[in-house]
Amino acid sequence: MTFGKAIRSEWLLADDLIFLNHGSFGACPRSVLAVQRDWQDIMERDPVRFLVRELPQRLDEAREKLATFVGSRPEDLVFVQNATDGANAVLRSLLPTFKPGDELLTASHAYRAVRQTMVYVAGLSGAKVVDADVPFPILDAGEVTEAIARAISPKTVLAVIDHITSPTGVVFPIEQIIALFKERGIPVLVDGAHAPGQVDLELDTLGADYYVGNCHKWLYAPKGAALLWVDKKHQPKIHPTVISHFLDGGYQTEFAWTGTLDPTAYLSIPAGIAFHQKLAASGSREYMRNMLLDARREITAALGVPLAAPEEMLANLCTIPLPNNPDASDKAVQRLHDLLFDEYHIQVPAMNANGKLHVRASSQVYNDRSDFEALKAALVELASAGRIPRADR
Ligand SMILES: Cc1ncc(COP(=O)(O)O)c(C=O)c1O
Repeated sequence: MTFGKAIRSEWLLADDLIFLNHGSFGACPRSVLAVQRDWQDIMERDPVRFLVRELPQRLDEAREKLATFVGSRPEDLVFVQNATDGANAVLRSLLPTFKPGDELLTASHAYRAVRQTMVYVAGLSGAKVVDADVPFPILDAGEVTEAIARAISPKTVLAVIDHITSPTGVVFPIEQIIALFKERGIPVLVDGAHAPGQVDLELDTLGADYYVGNCHKWLYAPKGAALLWVDKKHQPKIHPTVISHFLDGGYQTEFAWTGTLDPTAYLSIPAGIAFHQKLAASGSREYMRNMLLDARREITAALGVPLAAPEEMLANLCTIPLPNNPDASDKAVQRLHDLLFDEYHIQVPAMNANGKLHVRASSQVYNDRSDFEALKAALVELASAGRIPRADR
C-alpha cells in the first residue's frame, strides 16, 4: 500500500488544504463514513425497532471488537460520545466523595476542557486542583514522573493524567506514573484522548482506575465515538454524564442509554479498527512516525529552535517551539493559527505549551513530506518577517 497523496482520496479532505491537524478531531475515511451511513439507513427504516430492540445487541458486538483492540474485558468498557464526556462521567460521579481541602492532581500539559471539569467539581466540593509542573522542552520521561511525584501530597485524592498530551504531543510514561499513585493508594483517571490507534493499549493490565479514550481521532471512527474503561471495583459508583431511565441499573445498562442520540458512530468503530489494522499491516505506523521525526528535525533546524522532546516520547504528534520563544496568549494562539490557515492554507494548531507559543503537527498516512515542507517554509517566512504573533499585541 502506498501512503501520502496516493491514499488521500480515501478521505474527503479538500484538495487545496494542507492538513496537519489529525490530532484535534481526527478525519474519518470515506469507507468508514459509508458504514456509518448504512447503519443510519438501517436505523431509519424503523427507528423504534432499531433503538429499542436491535441496538443493545449491536452495541455489544461493537464493544467486544473494541475491547479486543484495547486489551479490555468487554464488561469494563462503555461507549461515551467523546473523552470530555467520559472524564465528566467519572469526575461528576466522584464529586460527592471530595471534601474541602482535598487535592485533585493533574499536570501542566493537561487538556483545558478536562482540567476545567476538575475545576468545576473542585469548586463544588471545596477541593482544589494542583498542577504538577512538567517542563517543556522536556529531556526525558523521568522529568514527568519526578514532577508528578513532587506534586503528590497527603491530601491528593485523585490524579487525572494524560497518556498523550494535547499541547505538547508527548507520550507520558503512563505505567510509571500509575505506579507512583498506586503505591500511595491514590486512584488515577487516565485521559487517553489521543491514545487508541496511536499507541498500543492493554487496559486490563495497565493498572489505571479509569481510562477515557477517543476512537474518532486515531482510530478513524466517525465523530462522537469514544470509550470509558472503569475498574470493576469502581463501576457501581460511576454514572454517565447524562442520567436517564436506568439510574442504578448497573454500569453497562446505565451507559447503554443516555437519551436519544445517533449511536451509529459507536457502531462504526469496528470499521475504523479494521481500517486501522489494514494500514498498520502495510507499515502505516512506521511511515507516520518516521515522517514526523524527519520533519521535526528539518523544521527545528530551519527555525533555529530546540527539539522540545526526545524521540522516544513521540508517536504521531510533535510540538515545535518558535524563534525567541514567544509568550502565548489566547489571542496569539488564534492569530498564529489564522495566519497559517488564511495565508498558507495550512491547517495546523498553534498551542500554548507551558505559557509559550508553539505549533503542533500531526502525521497521518494521507500526509507526505511536502505538507511538512510547506509548514517549514511558512514558519520560516513568518519568523523572518517578524510576523510570529506576540502575546502583548
Ligand atoms: C488530552 C485530551 N483530552 C481530552 C480531549 C477532548 O477530546 P474530545 O473533544 O473528543 O472530548 C482532547 C482533545 O483533543 C485531548 O487532547
